[in-house]
Amino acid sequence: MIPRIGASVTDFGTAVVRQLEPMNVFVANRSAGIANSRDKFRSLQILSRHSIGMPKTTFVRDRGDVTASINRIGGAPVIIKLLEGTQGVGVILADSIKIAEAIIETLQTAKQNVLVQGFVGESKGRDARAFVVGDRVVGAMRRVAQGDEFRSNVHRGGQVESIELDDEYRETAIRAAQIMGLRIAGVDMLEGKEGPQVMEVNSFPGLEGIERATRTDIAGAIVDYCAAHVDFPEMDIRQRLTVNRGYGVCELVVPEGSHFVGMTIAEAAFTDKDINVLTLYRGSTVIPNPKSTRNMEAGDRLLCSGKQEAMKAMVPTKTRKKRSPKIKTLDSAMIEDATSHSDQS
Ligand SMILES: Nc1ncnc2c1ncn2[C@@H]1O[C@H](COP(=O)(O)OP(=O)(O)O)[C@@H](O)[C@H]1O
Ligand SMILES: [Mg+2]
Repeated sequence: MIPRIGASVTDFGTAVVRQLEPMNVFVANRSAGIANSRDKFRSLQILSRHSIGMPKTTFVRDRGDVTASINRIGGAPVIIKLLEGTQGVGVILADSIKIAEAIIETLQTAKQNVLVQGFVGESKGRDARAFVVGDRVVGAMRRVAQGDEFRSNVHRGGQVESIELDDEYRETAIRAAQIMGLRIAGVDMLEGKEGPQVMEVNSFPGLEGIERATRTDIAGAIVDYCAAHVDFPEMDIRQRLTVNRGYGVCELVVPEGSHFVGMTIAEAAFTDKDINVLTLYRGSTVIPNPKSTRNMEAGDRLLCSGKQEAMKAMVPTKTRKKRSPKIKTLDSAMIEDATSHSDQS
């Protein structure tokens, strides 16, 4: 929850710790991105925080929750998916709540958790696969399911054709890959009434179908990307920016009603407070190195590096647990008691 506080208090929301893995070699897709993308539910949870269009999705654990969950996503027909299925295996279309209940129950008996998703019928068995390398789409294809099959996977007999994505689809694919932390990704999108509906972001997209459809050397594009970036291996930014005592990295949120809303970055005097604003996240827009003349808006998130005390002062105390900063002196009885319980060997 974003706190609403008075104008006199320094008033940024919660500080979010962003953990970055140390890495000394160039790796296009890191382990966290791969692990997240493999779990369909986890990846949709991550994408849903960034206003990426996706089919309405819910997670069901108990049989008793099935009806309520299906109603929440707009009723049958629904798609039931295993969390870690691939190539269309583990994706089932259920026409009615009764059938959905029976399928979910069967899968749960086999200890398989499932997600339930609204069926995007208007996509008519077609989807778009965008092949993202770095910050561009190097090829895109439409996959079309054959016969009465609704799954368009190539392994389920889906036919492929090269397509030119429009800006909305291209932007969505690139952003979805970036949010998942993947520099090489195959982003699958259904063509929904409200625009692109991301189904999944594949961290190991196959080359065969896309190269055949687009007649483009996608593998070559990956090699070129790696060659161009190998001189800038992944680094642990947090660790590098925290080597001086008292300095660190954090994300500050501008809550609704904050007196910073409408102020420029210069007026908020970040630099005077020994804080650098590295990136500003505004809805789905990312603004690197925001200018000092840029106004802040409610909901903005600012990735900052600088003096930890100053950044902490910008987070309202209401959102932090208070603890006395004093270090207590323990009397000898307490020390003896503690050591007698510990394993000293
Ligand atoms: N919500 C949905 N509505 C309509 N069709 C879907 C939906 N989800 C999946 N499909 C179809 O099923 C195929 C496989 O689903 P997907 O989630 O990509 O699983 P997999 O990892 O097995 O490829 C998709 O390519 C698409 O054709
Ligand atoms: Mg797929």
